[in-house]
Amino acid sequence: MVRLVLLGLLGLSLYGAEAVKVGDKYKNSGKCKSCHSHIVKEWEGSWHAKSHYANDEYFQKTIDYVARKSNGRSLNSIKIECAACHNPRISVTSTSSEYDAIAALKLDKDSAATKALQSDTISEGINCVVCHNIDQIYDNLPENERGIHRVTWMRSGTMTGPYDDAKSPYHRVEQRDFMETNPNQLCFVCHANDTSREGHRFTDMQAEFKSGGKQCVDCHMGSHKEGVASTLPGANGKPTKRLIRSHGFIGAHTENLWKDALRVDMRKGAKGLEVTLTNPLPHALPSGFGSREIIVEAQFVKGGKIVKTETLSLTSRFLTKRGKPTVPHLAKKTVENVSIPANGSKTFIVPLEGSADQVTVVVSYRLVNDEIREMLDLKDPLWSKKMLIKKVNVKL
Ligand code: HEC
Ligand code: HEC
Ligand code: HEC
Ligand code: HEC
Ligand code: HEC
Repeated sequence: MVRLVLLGLLGLSLYGAEAVKVGDKYKNSGKCKSCHSHIVKEWEGSWHAKSHYANDEYFQKTIDYVARKSNGRSLNSIKIECAACHNPRISVTSTSSEYDAIAALKLDKDSAATKALQSDTISEGINCVVCHNIDQIYDNLPENERGIHRVTWMRSGTMTGPYDDAKSPYHRVEQRDFMETNPNQLCFVCHANDTSREGHRFTDMQAEFKSGGKQCVDCHMGSHKEGVASTLPGANGKPTKRLIRSHGFIGAHTENLWKDALRVDMRKGAKGLEVTLTNPLPHALPSGFGSREIIVEAQFVKGGKIVKTETLSLTSRFLTKRGKPTVPHLAKKTVENVSIPANGSKTFIVPLEGSADQVTVVVSYRLVNDEIREMLDLKDPLWSKKMLIKKVNVKL
């Protein structure tokens, strides 16, 4: 009886933005494989496919940390908050303090929140029916309303895509601008800005973006190439030829994309070795998520032997309102922002070693800086791996 009353309460205290159920026929990428297997394969290798709590160690441990440090807020509530962009097909989109009180007593096992988080509809993270089932994107909403709060969904079984003449026996199709002429609008649903619980905006990729004619998809899905959207033969017995892009969404986790991502110039100046990093991209680097790092290592060599190594860590650090180091999502402020702006450059000074006759400068990128890696106890070597951007050698 008590339980029934509690559940009634839960029903009232949980409300959702317009959540449209994804039918079983469409809910995971496996359902698309028989006709779009090449696309499914590319997507499986992408970080969109890893955006769920269970599949990304960094995301998971950040959520756990935020929950530990947020008095009274349950782990499930934090998961639901983050799901807005990381798991947008979730059926519960916010929770109340009543829910947290019930969760603290561990009486939320049968709640809508728990069920929504366990549903296999969301276990793939940002999958096909996240992007291809969006009906409208609302750009007139407040800037911080993102992900699930910024879109409405098509009825289940209608796929939005780039073509106006596609026909499929498996699903309805509809063309949308954000799939064709204006794909940045789709990316900015989530890759725009994020604000901590303290009201601190720790990332603002959309504001930093300086479009020079290139769209996000031109670089992160590759340029258009000839291929097929579906391998299913049409009326003439052959699949329709189409202009397509890759669904790999390669980015910061992909080592070879970092190669030459920045230009490196060096000059011996009055105060030391001046290393200038120039960013040719339309967004800052690092950008997007906080706690990324660019490392500049200078090895001074004399007569073939290394005499000294200097290392600069270019990263953002985040502090709580009490001035303690923390993750971006709990930060009151950013201590330093060392990103290289879009189409801009920054110069850093490395102290010179007087006796050296040569210097080798290696510029690399790391997904998570030392401080946050230690704070969250990240184990996968991926997070500490140095991905090479450029190596430059000069005589002094
Ligand atoms: C993050 C958003 C996103 C996700 C996730 C996504 N797509 Fe796409 N998809 C796009 C965009 C954007 C285009 C349009 C590309 C273009 O032509 O400019 C597209 C195009 C397509 C096309 C047309 C052919 C082509 O390759 O351009 C098909 C078919 C398609 N997607 C199927 C899928 C399937 C199946 C999945 C899941 C395995 C999937 N998509 C996941 C954004 C996404
Ligand atoms: C039985 C085969 C089949 C299955 C299964 C299938 N599709 Fe398709 N799909 C097609 C065909 C055929 C087209 C049209 C291709 C063309 O015209 O080039 C298509 C087109 C598309 C397009 C482009 C629509 C447009 O208007 O631009 C998207 C997006 C898409 N499918 C997504 C999906 C997703 C997501 C799934 C899984 C939930 C899926 N499809 C399952 C056959 C299938
Ligand atoms: C529904 C929200 C959402 C949409 C829409 C979306 N993304 Fe993402 N994207 C994410 C999240 C969340 C991650 C991080 C996943 C992770 O690392 O676990 C991500 C990761 C990425 C990455 C990987 C970066 C890396 O570090 O490897 C790239 C590249 C990317 N997205 C590009 C795009 C592009 C291009 C579009 C538009 C076509 C797009 N995304 C649309 C939420 C979204
Ligand atoms: C001219 C090509 C280009 C365009 C256009 C572009 N990017 Fe990038 N982006 C890159 C490269 C190159 C990198 C750095 C190498 C890497 O991520 O592996 C990068 C990095 C990123 C990262 C990881 C940044 C970090 O420091 O963690 C994200 C996320 C991202 N891009 C998203 C986007 C989104 C969203 C758009 C559109 C608003 C966009 N990009 C437009 C080329 C581009
Ligand atoms: C407004 C949309 C949005 C919300 C809400 C959001 N994220 Fe993200 N998150 C992103 C995007 C987009 C990326 C990928 C950007 C990049 O790699 O630079 C990302 C990346 C991350 C990453 C880096 C993952 C990796 O593999 O490197 C972590 C960790 C993360 N988010 C944690 C969280 C936590 C914890 C919450 C909830 C407290 C949250 N996010 C809420 C959009 C969002």
